[in-house]
Amino acid sequence: MFLLVIFLTSLVLCNGNDISGDAAAASSSSTSSEPSTAPPSTMPPLPTLPPSSPITSSITYKVAAQRVSNQPILSKDMGSFWDFNYNAALFQKDHEIGMIVQVQNLKNENIPYEVGPSYLTLTNITFKNGQVYATPTTNITMDLLLHTSPACGIKDPRIAFMEGSNSSNLRYDASYNLFFTSNECQKTTLSAASTFKPFDSNGWSEIESNVLPLRSSSKSGAPLYASDENKLEHDYLFWGDSISPPGGIGIALGQRGREGFEDFDSYLIKTREDYFDSERIEGGPSPLKLNTGDYLFLYNGARKGFHSVKPNWSMQFNLGYTVLAGADPTQVLDRSEYPLMSPTLDWEIGNSQKYLTPNVVFIGGLIPDPDGCQYVNVTDLLGSEYIDNAECFFGVYNAADSHLGAVRIVVSSDANITHPSTTLTSTTTTTKKTSIMVPTSTVRESSVSITSPTPPPLTTTTTTSDANTKVLSFLGVLIVGILSI
Ligand SMILES: *[C@@H]1O[C@H](CO)[C@@H](O)[C@H](O)[C@H]1NC(C)=O
Ligand SMILES: *[C@@H]1O[C@H](CO)[C@@H](O)[C@H](O)[C@H]1NC(C)=O
Ligand SMILES: *[C@@H]1O[C@H](CO)[C@@H](O)[C@H](O)[C@H]1NC(C)=O
Ligand SMILES: *[C@@H]1O[C@H](CO)[C@@H](O)[C@H](O)[C@H]1NC(C)=O
Ligand SMILES: *[C@@H]1O[C@H](CO)[C@@H](O)[C@H](O)[C@H]1NC(C)=O
Ligand SMILES: *[C@@H]1O[C@H](CO)[C@@H](O)[C@H](O)[C@H]1NC(C)=O
Repeated sequence: MFLLVIFLTSLVLCNGNDISGDAAAASSSSTSSEPSTAPPSTMPPLPTLPPSSPITSSITYKVAAQRVSNQPILSKDMGSFWDFNYNAALFQKDHEIGMIVQVQNLKNENIPYEVGPSYLTLTNITFKNGQVYATPTTNITMDLLLHTSPACGIKDPRIAFMEGSNSSNLRYDASYNLFFTSNECQKTTLSAASTFKPFDSNGWSEIESNVLPLRSSSKSGAPLYASDENKLEHDYLFWGDSISPPGGIGIALGQRGREGFEDFDSYLIKTREDYFDSERIEGGPSPLKLNTGDYLFLYNGARKGFHSVKPNWSMQFNLGYTVLAGADPTQVLDRSEYPLMSPTLDWEIGNSQKYLTPNVVFIGGLIPDPDGCQYVNVTDLLGSEYIDNAECFFGVYNAADSHLGAVRIVVSSDANITHPSTTLTSTTTTTKKTSIMVPTSTVRESSVSITSPTPPPLTTTTTTSDANTKVLSFLGVLIVGILSI
């Protein structure tokens, strides 16, 4: 009964938000601005996840974000074909890093905010001396061989690698799976495509046009697949934008080797009053495994109160993080108290008609950083006692629904991990530092919140998960991390 009350309350709240908030945002436009499509009352009730015993741990995690540079890596000004090049997913194959980018044009160059359908396009990223270069987008878009033709296009790409298996009754090959949103303008539907050849722009084909059939609206799905290595019991899908499912990020479960997910009336996390994620939360890239055995899952959280030149738009989107329990990723061990990163650069604040949606940083792509922690001063970001366990990730984020930026995410903990064959990453970190010349443009972010009163310098929380039983070889994790992209 109590749960039902909460459910109804959040439903009411969300409808309220939409009326007062971003109703003006063209429904065909941005990630962060969609019409509310609350589930109809006729929807059959969904089961909730069976209860599991709470996992406890004494590990303290520290997480920080640092921009790779203070310039975007993709924008029209930098040679891309499209007016807006923004939400993007990353994947790794062999030594190449690919990127699938959501792109969109204005209908008329003289009328701001009115956009045509969005498309996905494939590009590459290369790393050189700590700098990151992205191939500008072209007019060639991906043809996902869709079952339907959504009038407002497709968007919100997320990619996860699904490991093949020869075990018992499972029969499938390793594949790259893309989750994206089919946008019917007034309604969005989470969909999925798959390929063995991710660099072939036309090699991807839609496998499911409706990943969560019972939902009247769905978007932004981040899958976490079971594998021989992670020994997860299920495939997991963390999805939604807190409009649907109302108030949080939902959980759906899949069976290894089978397509499709079973939907539950259960949440991974919910919006939090008086936090940076009070108004909206929407999942980021697929969770990645940490050297403790737990998972890093980034998300995007919005709050109100940031008036802008865009009519009816006053939200600010920030990056947040969660750490999910390795033994049961539906359990959240740690969650950011303050934003990992907030819009602070001109092209993130984007408060002019040149930009589609002001005050947005929004992450959709994450891989283990190919440079390790070589270009990050871990001591500076996390403190010297956190050097040994530090792991660095590379991400791409949407800025103001207009450009694409690059960010490094650093995670460490006080877990007792034995690092075999020398602590590769941290050694590099300490010895290479002097030769690193990241451009003066580098902006550092710990957990800085714009409106909150003086947050602590770092996002640190003591959490609960029994890590000692899940300690893994650091090298093993690195390799698995790369494979699991
Ligand atoms: C802003 O929102 C209000 C209330 O929903 C609506 O009446 C108005 O038309 C919107 N303005 C624009 C420019 O869309
Ligand atoms: C990405 O890189 C691969 C391998 O170097 C190349 O074959 C492909 O054409 C590149 N794709 C794009 C879109 O740049
Ligand atoms: C893409 O651009 C090229 C050259 O700019 C042009 O030849 C080609 O027709 C365009 N293709 C599409 C599908 O618009
Ligand atoms: C799985 O089966 C395929 C085809 O029979 C084979 O080529 C591959 O090596 C096998 N993989 C493993 C990990 O055993
Ligand atoms: C890294 O940061 C620490 C603490 O701020 C500082 O003492 C050290 O000089 C920095 N190292 C480099 C190579 O910049
Ligand atoms: C690491 O080991 C020390 C000594 O055995 C212990 O006191 C500490 O609690 C352990 N830390 C964690 C996070 O388990």
